[in-house]
Amino acid sequence: MKFLILVLCAAVVAADPHWKMLDHDEVEVVKKTWNEVKNKETEILAAIFKEHPDIQNKFPMFAGKSLDQLKSSQPFSLHATRIVSFITQYISLLGHDETQPAVKTILNEMGQNHRNRGVTKQQLEEFGSSLMKFMKEHSSWNDKAEHAWHDAMDKMYFVIFSSLDGHPVQ
Ligand code: HEM
Repeated sequence: MKFLILVLCAAVVAADPHWKMLDHDEVEVVKKTWNEVKNKETEILAAIFKEHPDIQNKFPMFAGKSLDQLKSSQPFSLHATRIVSFITQYISLLGHDETQPAVKTILNEMGQNHRNRGVTKQQLEEFGSSLMKFMKEHSSWNDKAEHAWHDAMDKMYFVIFSSLDGHPVQ
């Protein structure tokens, strides 16, 4: 019976339209555009905080500080690097069947950590749209990139949101 339930759960996840495999071209365009911005860690985080001060205020060490003050500080640059490295790791795992369990693991963990911090889906959506805006302004963006990033973010947030709801994706 337990086995049957496991198989059914796996089938439900496999059937979910958000849990998709990006095809080769999509992965290439995501990697190419990300490589063009991934060294701008502090600029990315500063752009997100500027648009959404509520996200900044969730970080006890950054709350209430001016962005100019923060941008040159070590904790800010360390945290910007952590977030960017996380996304780099996620992107590096896209496009291969054998790395999909690892994708689930890192995204489930991220959702769980952020659930414990009281981060909301709305804040994560805001984070995502500011990141996309930054990408559009700082990379060789086009319709293909828009489509590929939409799929990549959809897949990422499908797992993170399930985990944020207390239901890590199996
Ligand atoms: C959208 C709102 C978000 C808020 C309010 C938020 C908040 C936080 C906080 C408070 C920490 C702990 C910082 C520390 O004490 O060192 C943290 C850590 C972290 N965040 Fe976020 N975060 C958000 C989104 C994201 C996103 C979208 C990503 C990646 C895609 C991300 C990746 C990480 C990573 C990798 C860490 C360090 C590892 C960990 O402790 O979990 N965060 N976040």
